Amino acid sequence: MDILPEDVATWHYIENTARRVAKTFGFNEIRFPTFESTELFQRGVGGTTDVVQKEMYTFTDRENRSFTLRPEGTACVVRSLIENGKCSDTMPIKLYYLINCFRYEKPQAGRSREFFQFGTEVFGSASPLTDATLISLGHTLLSELGIKNTSLHINSIGCPSCRPAYRDALKHYFADRKDELCETCKSRLDTNPLRILDCKSPICSGIAKGAPKTVEHLCPDCQNHFDALKRYLDAEGIPYTVNPSIVRGLDYYTRTVFEFIADGIGAQSTVCGGGRYDGLVSELGGPKLPACGFAMGITRLILAMEASGVVIPKNEGPLLYIAPLGDAARAKALSIVTSLRKKGIAAECDIVERSLKAQMKYADKISAKFTLMLGDNEIERGMANIKNMADSSQTEIALDALDEYLADYIG
Ligand code: HAM
Repeated sequence: MDILPEDVATWHYIENTARRVAKTFGFNEIRFPTFESTELFQRGVGGTTDVVQKEMYTFTDRENRSFTLRPEGTACVVRSLIENGKCSDTMPIKLYYLINCFRYEKPQAGRSREFFQFGTEVFGSASPLTDATLISLGHTLLSELGIKNTSLHINSIGCPSCRPAYRDALKHYFADRKDELCETCKSRLDTNPLRILDCKSPICSGIAKGAPKTVEHLCPDCQNHFDALKRYLDAEGIPYTVNPSIVRGLDYYTRTVFEFIADGIGAQSTVCGGGRYDGLVSELGGPKLPACGFAMGITRLILAMEASGVVIPKNEGPLLYIAPLGDAARAKALSIVTSLRKKGIAAECDIVERSLKAQMKYADKISAKFTLMLGDNEIERGMANIKNMADSSQTEIALDALDEYLADYIG
């Protein structure tokens, strides 16, 4: 995906806000490779999910090993923790990442084949306080970004002790209408009936509406966990809806699942999705380590910010543009901007050898806050007129005091 220079300020703004909010919650950044062994996602995300069955970019390398461009980050983070011996570190481990992901989906507004996520993962806590904290982080970030039109949907999809009875109830329900299901869902009936609940086909999703609800089949531990989460959210003043149709499209989830859904951004309205995955670390060869996390799609955040009327900051121009006249002035301009840059001041000068008129046009175009014309006369006197582009006022200033003058305007 191309992100053009005129749009990059928006991305920086979101990334910087995400980093800042994550830091206030005590999260550290983790980075990991863009592609991993295909088996990681087959085992981690689940062989019967759409992501694994239809959406992965998979290739073999020169040694005929199968690799896949990461369709998400959670399995990668778990792999990294296990491989680097981090599963016995002080708990909880609280991590975030900003990554590109790849899924072979039909592109549309808010959905692309390469997309970007801000993701978080917490390891080493089974407590619903962790789920509530993550939801609070997501909620805080959305509000810091000025996104007003979202609603939080939560659900619990149980654990290995209550899931089998729920699976049976689902199997029973869908078996009665097997003939109407799409071909993929017919095969899911035996392998993973829960996946039928998020089939995109209108017929399957219509049938799924009347299916048994996970929350009606929770064991006492899962019920207590879910009730506690709701109490914590109430205590935090974070509004939510219990939505039994949120089951999430990835297989690793246990207990809590949640989504933040934005109004006014089209069909791809889930700006954030996540949940608990207490079995994944051991499933991928690590110890039993409860975990929970979420990921937000950056392009969907941008759409939601636009729908909320957020004025997104633009790329800033330099503080000073120096327009030299003649060879001596060009060399002097170059040395002045270099010394200003060393002091942290964004300064530019002509590097194309344009006419003075063209230089001034350029300075205007790049939104320089101040401009300064430098000729032989100015160099001789060591003084020049600096022009404030906002009000066209001019001030005569010593060339070696430029940094002091501009210091007031930094930032
Ligand atoms: P996910 O729901 O598959 O979950 O993706 C998370 C978010 O990524 C979505 O809510 C959406 O905003 C964005 N997203 C997904 N696919 C696309 C796409 N094709 N184009 C644009 N944006 C997209 C996960 O990926 C889990 N790993 C989240 C998680 C972390 N669960 C626990 N920890």
